[in-house]
Amino acid sequence: MKLLRLLVLFLTVPAVAQQGGMWIPSLLSGLNEKEMKSLGMKMKAEDIYSVNHSSLKDAVPQFDGGCTAEVISPQGLLLTNHHCGYDNIQSHSTLEHDYLTNGFWAMSQAEELPNPGVVVTFIVSIDDVTTKVLEGTQSLSEEARQKKIQENITSLTKSLPKESWQENSIRTFYEGNQYIRFITETFKDIRLVGAPPSSIGKFGSDTDNWVWPRHTGDFSMFRIYAGKDNRPAEYSKDNVPYKPKHFLPVNIGGVKENDFTMVFGYPGRTTEYLPAVAVEQIVNVLDPAKIEIRDAALKVEDGFMRKDPQIKIQYASKYAGIANYWKKWIGEVQGLKKSNAVAIKRNYEAQFTQWVSKAGKQAEYGNLLPDFEVQYKAIEPYALGRDYFVEVALRNTELLTIGYRLYQLEQVYNAKGAQSFTDRKNNTIASLEATYKDYSKAVDEKVFEQLIALYINKVPKQFLPDALLNANAAQLTADVYGKSGLVSYEGVKQLLAGEPAAVIQKLNADKGYQLIKAMTAAYMEKVAPKYEEINLKITALQRTYMKAILELSPKDARIFPDANSTLRITYGKVKGYEPRDAVYYEPVTYLDGVIEKYVPNDYEFDVPQKLIELYNKKDYGQYGENGKMPVCFIGTNHTTGGNSGSPAIDAKGNLIGLNFDRVWEGTMSDIHYDPNICRNIMVDMRYVLFIVDKFAGAGHLVKEMKLVK
Ligand code: ARG
Ligand code: GLU
Repeated sequence: MKLLRLLVLFLTVPAVAQQGGMWIPSLLSGLNEKEMKSLGMKMKAEDIYSVNHSSLKDAVPQFDGGCTAEVISPQGLLLTNHHCGYDNIQSHSTLEHDYLTNGFWAMSQAEELPNPGVVVTFIVSIDDVTTKVLEGTQSLSEEARQKKIQENITSLTKSLPKESWQENSIRTFYEGNQYIRFITETFKDIRLVGAPPSSIGKFGSDTDNWVWPRHTGDFSMFRIYAGKDNRPAEYSKDNVPYKPKHFLPVNIGGVKENDFTMVFGYPGRTTEYLPAVAVEQIVNVLDPAKIEIRDAALKVEDGFMRKDPQIKIQYASKYAGIANYWKKWIGEVQGLKKSNAVAIKRNYEAQFTQWVSKAGKQAEYGNLLPDFEVQYKAIEPYALGRDYFVEVALRNTELLTIGYRLYQLEQVYNAKGAQSFTDRKNNTIASLEATYKDYSKAVDEKVFEQLIALYINKVPKQFLPDALLNANAAQLTADVYGKSGLVSYEGVKQLLAGEPAAVIQKLNADKGYQLIKAMTAAYMEKVAPKYEEINLKITALQRTYMKAILELSPKDARIFPDANSTLRITYGKVKGYEPRDAVYYEPVTYLDGVIEKYVPNDYEFDVPQKLIELYNKKDYGQYGENGKMPVCFIGTNHTTGGNSGSPAIDAKGNLIGLNFDRVWEGTMSDIHYDPNICRNIMVDMRYVLFIVDKFAGAGHLVKEMKLVK
């Protein structure tokens, strides 16, 4: 009986749809629709994107350039991540009103807080302008071609018809094989409505970053304000809440494993069509170098932060910034290895070679793969030299990073003269005050010693400036940190005081300045030009490779354009995964897990008293499920940086979750998506509403929304 039922089940369940991919919502194919339906979607493509009537896309703007948000009420209420609104929450915070620590809730629209400079951009329509962009580029050299394309884009952006309050934006897809124009509307009066305390919105902080099982309530709320005509307007207290063309109803019926999910948003950048040789280089050379550098910097900072509470405050945000991608790269390398990405790519390339010969296209495409091998071999030392320069000089050693800003100042002096120099100098002095407020010479000196040693030992010798050729890291460190003025704000101000010519002279006599100037000069002379030259060749090869893939792949191949910060949808289902042998991760976490992780007064794992009380009373209102409070869930949606704040949508177009991260074992999805271990992490909308309503007492916001079950 049981066996029979199983068999019947097996026979009637449709073959598992392929997953992964970030698709352009206006260009969904029949294949996409078929896959989505087989995963359980109940909508039509028209409901997702339409220019003729309102559709899902009208509820999903880009949030302030880097994140995604969604409109969740008829009065322009906007939901995004806590980490996306973080800077704004912080900028409204003072010692008396510490919204980062305690949270913030506007109890009426009058209490909502304006955020000058923050914008929210909606897509009005999407159309293909490839022919127009490529006009007059035939038979040009690669460099001339790029220049002509840029000119065409600039002039089309001005001339293509749109309304006066809208913008045109033209972007390339498929590595330069397609160009698409977006008409957008950008709202500029965006007010903060609410944010949970960091102990909810950032719960688990760096330790839990990129980690499943996760228990973070990573959300914050804003409201879009418009002019009286409902169009974008500069901030004014007379502006009114924006009436959206569409807003997402919230489904509080909950999710379970295998439910359909779709994530709508603005993924930033992926490189899914790299040749195997490029992936090999990332796995074996480039990622390990960057990881080693950041590893060293983080160890030093961590050592100081553990001992000194003052340094802990000064370095918390810097540490988090360095750690985010350090951790991502480690996961990426492991994932690429574990999923045999290079071997899979090599297999694909063997197949590709057959397609080329079957199609009789050897003349056009036959050399692509060998050329990739040659160019990637050629670029390797330069790419490595570039990564070392960026990571050591521009990113992770504060003295060198500050010195580099002063070096740019000298460039301004040389190029534009004394007046520009003085203006820029005064800005630099003003902005460095904040930099030095959080600067510790002791920490930076130790970081420098570690990182400069790596630089001396690992950067190919021919790229080093003379000053580093046979240098001893410890001696150099003592020399620079003993003598340079860059180790304190006072010292920098002294260096920068006086007439331009005198300042330049003082700078050039400073040990720290001399070093960054020599490093920069060596980089600009010996690395950058050759890197650019080879990279231009690789860009051209990649464009032709992409063209060939589009042309020669089987009709039903799933080929999506790499992410480029434009609106995409990705779909999949709620699903657990097996991170390693004999371990299975369930797809849903609960408030019980928050309490399990609770460490009183810890800066990562503290829990607000009120939340503990609600937990003890199981007081979850209409948001709980069988006496438990769901917190986060994961799915097979293919997302990347920029998808933070993206809505997770159910089969009928309702909001069920808010995307904010990916699982560590699957961060290689930017290069190679594997449905077995790539998962995006979302906070359950029921947890969001529970926090708003029961924890914060801001139930009036929930009343604005449309809840469905
Ligand atoms: N890993 C997430 C995203 O890239 C969240 C980053 C913010 N959170 C943090 N703990 N640093 O980029
Ligand atoms: N946290 C990321 C962001 O800020 C999203 C996570 C990811 O990279 O997938 O966009």
